[in-house]
Amino acid sequence: MNVRIAYYSATGNTRKVAESMAGAIGCKATGVDAYADDGTVDLLFLGAAVYATHGHGVHEAVRKFITGLEKSKVNKVALFSTGFIQSEAIPGMRKLLETRGITVLPESYFCLGRFALFNLGHPNALELEGAAAFARKLAGR
Ligand SMILES: Cc1cc2nc3c(=O)[nH]c(=O)nc-3n(C[C@H](O)[C@H](O)[C@H](O)COP(=O)(O)O)c2cc1C
Repeated sequence: MNVRIAYYSATGNTRKVAESMAGAIGCKATGVDAYADDGTVDLLFLGAAVYATHGHGVHEAVRKFITGLEKSKVNKVALFSTGFIQSEAIPGMRKLLETRGITVLPESYFCLGRFALFNLGHPNALELEGAAAFARKLAGR
C-alpha cells in the first residue's frame, strides 16, 4: 500500500505530528508546498491547523493543495490536525475533499498544539504516540 503524509505547519506543531506518524509507518512526511506527484496513493494523511491570520479556516496553501490533487490518484484521505482547541481544520478539509469527490475516512486525529503561552509542551510525547498509533492502525502497519 502506497501511503503518503502531507501537512501544512506554520509553527511546527502539525509537522511534529506528521513526523511521528511518518516514523511509525516508515514513510516520508512532506509539506504541502513540496509534495510531488508519486503515482497512485492508496492512503494520504493530510494535516493542518487554523490561523486567525488566515480567516480561521483552511489555510490557502492547503486549499491549493486539495484543489491540485488528482482524484484518480488518491484512493482515500485521513485527516489530522493540531490546535489551540478543536477547530475548523478537519471539518473544513473534509468538506473541500468531499466536494472534489475524494473519499475521506471517518477517523481523524487531533491533538493540542502550542500557541504563544497556551498549551505549552504540546504536542507532548503521549500525543505524538497517539498520532503514531493512529497512522499504524489506518495504514495497517
Ligand atoms: C498566528 C496564529 C494564529 C492562530 N489563530 C488561531 C485561531 O484563530 N483559532 C484557533 O483555534 N487557533 C489558532 N491558532 C493556534 C494554532 O491553530 C495552533 O497553535 C496549531 O497547533 C498551529 O499548528 P502549526 O504549529 O502546525 O502551525 C493560531 C496560531 C498562530 C500562530
